[in-house]
Amino acid sequence: MTTDTATDGRPFPVVRLPEFTRADLDEISGGAEDPFEVSAFSLTWRPKEEHFGVRRNGRLVAHAGLVTVPLTVGGVHTEAVGLGGVIVAPELRGRGVARAVVTAAVEHARGLGPRFGLLFCLPDRVPVYERLGWRELAEDVVVEQPDGPVVVPTRRMWTPLRPGAHWPPGPVRLLSLPM
Ligand SMILES: CC(C)(COP(=O)(O)OP(=O)(O)OC[C@H]1O[C@@H](n2cnc3c(N)ncnc32)[C@H](O)[C@@H]1OP(=O)(O)O)[C@@H](O)C(=O)NCCC(=O)NCCS
Repeated sequence: MTTDTATDGRPFPVVRLPEFTRADLDEISGGAEDPFEVSAFSLTWRPKEEHFGVRRNGRLVAHAGLVTVPLTVGGVHTEAVGLGGVIVAPELRGRGVARAVVTAAVEHARGLGPRFGLLFCLPDRVPVYERLGWRELAEDVVVEQPDGPVVVPTRRMWTPLRPGAHWPPGPVRLLSLPM
C-alpha cells in the first residue's frame, strides 16, 4: 500500500519520470483545462527535460520539471536551471506533496552546474515557493516568444544551487522560452 504524510508521517516518495506528456498532466489535474491558470497570458512555454513525480496507489499525483536555460544578467552570459510544470493533484494539495517533489528536483538541479534555479509563477504561489527556499526577483525578466521578446508578466523567483550564490544585479534576459 502506498502511504503518505497524512497517514504515517513519512514523506511522499519521489521518482524520476522518463517523460511528461499531456496525458500525465491530465492524470494529475483530473483533466483541468488550464491546470496552471496561465492561459490568459497566451505565452508559449518551454518543455522541461527532466521530470520528477509522485505516484500514489499507481496514479501520478504530482510533477516538477527542470530545464537548463541560457540567459544574460547585467549583460553577462550565464545559465540557470528552470523549474516548471509544478503541479499536485487537487485533492492532495496542502499536504507537503509539492515540497517533496520540488525538493527532489532542486536537489538534482544542484548537480547540473548552474548556480541558480529560476521559476515563473502567479502571485498567490509566491508564498509556497518562499516556504521552499525561493526568493522573489525584483527585476523584470525578458523572455523569448515566437513573435519576439516580451517582459514575462508573472512573478519571478530564484534559489541558490550552490552555497553563497547570489543572483547578480542587472537586467535579466532569458535567451529561451519561459519554463
Ligand atoms: C502550487 C501547488 C503546486 C502547491 O502544492 P501543495 O502540495 O499544495 O504544496 P505543499 O503542501 O507541499 O506546500 C508547500 C509549502 O507551501 C506552503 N503553502 C501551501 N499553500 C500555501 C498558501 N496558499 N500560502 C502560503 N503558503 C502555502 C505550505 O505550508 C508548505 O510549507 P511548509 O512545508 O513549510 O508548511 C498546488 O497548489 C498546485 O498544483 N496548484 C496548481 C498548479 C500550479 O499553480 N502550479 C504552480 C506553477 S508555478
